[in-house]
Parts: sequence; C-alpha cells; structure tokens
Amino acid sequence: MNYAKPIRILHSLLALCMLTQIAVGELMDVPEVEDGPATAGIHWIMPAFAHGGELHAIPGTPVVETLGFEVHEFLGLFIAGLLLIRIMLAMTSLPGANWRELVPWVFADGRKQLGREIKAQMAGWKQAKLAPPEDGEAVARCVHGFILLAGIGMGITGTLLFFGWSQTAPQTAIIELIAETHELLVGGLEALLAAHILAVILHQRQGHNIIARIKPGGQ
Ligand code: HEM
Repeated sequence: MNYAKPIRILHSLLALCMLTQIAVGELMDVPEVEDGPATAGIHWIMPAFAHGGELHAIPGTPVVETLGFEVHEFLGLFIAGLLLIRIMLAMTSLPGANWRELVPWVFADGRKQLGREIKAQMAGWKQAKLAPPEDGEAVARCVHGFILLAGIGMGITGTLLFFGWSQTAPQTAIIELIAETHELLVGGLEALLAAHILAVILHQRQGHNIIARIKPGGQ
C-alpha cells in the first residue's frame, strides 16, 4: 500500500509543525497571573519546562505575552486546521486515508488481526527487529491512529485554552483542568512519536524503505 498524495503532503506538514510545536511548547514562558506565592517554590525544580518561568504581574495588570507563547498559539491553530483536513480525508477511500485503518481495535476482525500480528512479531520486537509491512500493518496503523487522536485532543484542549486563558487574572478551575489535560496528552504524544520515529529508523535499517511510501515526491 502506498499513501495517497494528499496524505503524504499532510504528513510532511504535520511532522514539521508538530515537532516544532512540541519544542516551542516545552521551552516557552507561559504568561500567567499567579494565584499566590504557593507555587513559586517549585519553580527552581523545572525551569526548562512550560510554566516553569511564568511571568509575574500585579493582579489586574495584563502580563506580557512572550514571542514563544504567541508562536505556540498560532502554530497550534494552524495544526488544528491540518488535523481537520486529515479528519476530512479519513472519510474518503483514498489509499491509506480511511479512519477504519487507523483504529483496527474498534472492529472484531481488526482486533483479531492485531492479536495475530502481536503473537507473530513479539519475539522480533524484543530483538529490535520489525516485520516488513507486507506481514501486516495493524499495529503500525494503530500507533498512527493514536498519534492522530492525541493530536486531536491537543487541538481541542489547545483551542479551548486559546479562548479561555487569562492574562489578567488567575485561571478558573475549568481552565486549569483543561491545561492539565493538555499537558498530560502531550506526554502521551511524545512517547508515541518517539516510538514512531524509532520504528521508522529500524524499518529503514532493515531495508523496508517505508519512507518511500509517505514522502510527498515518491511513487
Ligand atoms: C522525523 C519525523 C518523522 C518521520 C521520519 C516519519 C515517517 C513516517 C513514515 C515512513 C510513515 C509511513 C509508515 C508506513 O509505511 O505505514 C509515517 C506515517 C505516519 N506518520 Fe510519521 N514520521 C515522522 C513524524 C511524524 C509526526 C510528528 C507525526 C504526527 C502527526 C506523524 C504521524 C504519522 C501518521 C499519522 C502516519 C500515517 C499516515 C496518516 O495516516 O496520515 N509522523 N511516518
């Protein structure tokens, strides 16, 4: 199976934007008005992470928006748009596009196929050997599905934060909860992307040439 052209173009755009977005998100300063001095004590523990270097302000005065935060906001909205296009393509039958292939665990025969692949390939995985795509791609497609689902979750929580984040007052409880979900999801997304990129490297080293299936200029 080769991916349809629009999927390939979207993959390049998503890969570039999402990796940049994760880096910006981890490094930026979040403009936030502190509730009180209670959290100040933990700042020295995680200075490199988002929220680690909040800008302080006198309550009632807007905090300064950093360039990193602004880039994060607008790149985030752009990625949400790209994901919307991917969702629309998932409704088509273009090669490699349909949503059913991304969530094989939803269907009985997909679950059976997953079970078969895991059973047949587990021994190889333990030795960092991956089977060629011809031997079944349900597990790989599952990972792709979870990447997209996590991305969609980031997009939804991020969009809510875009409209709900206050730069003049402490965040409401609901916005705090959405922000925590946003951060929890990014942890999962990072783990999935690490697995995805590691799998690509291993496949390439074993000569499966899967990059040719997804690169925009390939056949
Ligand atoms: C350097 C980074 C990356 C490389 C080298 C890479 C490479 C690949 C390759 C070779 C495939 C085809 C797998 C197959 O043969 O079935 C693929 C598919 C896929 N990748 Fe990546 N990828 C990268 C980053 C990302 C990122 C950041 C995302 C996050 C959105 C992502 C999401 C996907 C998805 C969802 C698919 C399946 C195609 C689709 O359904 O849209 N990849 N990737």
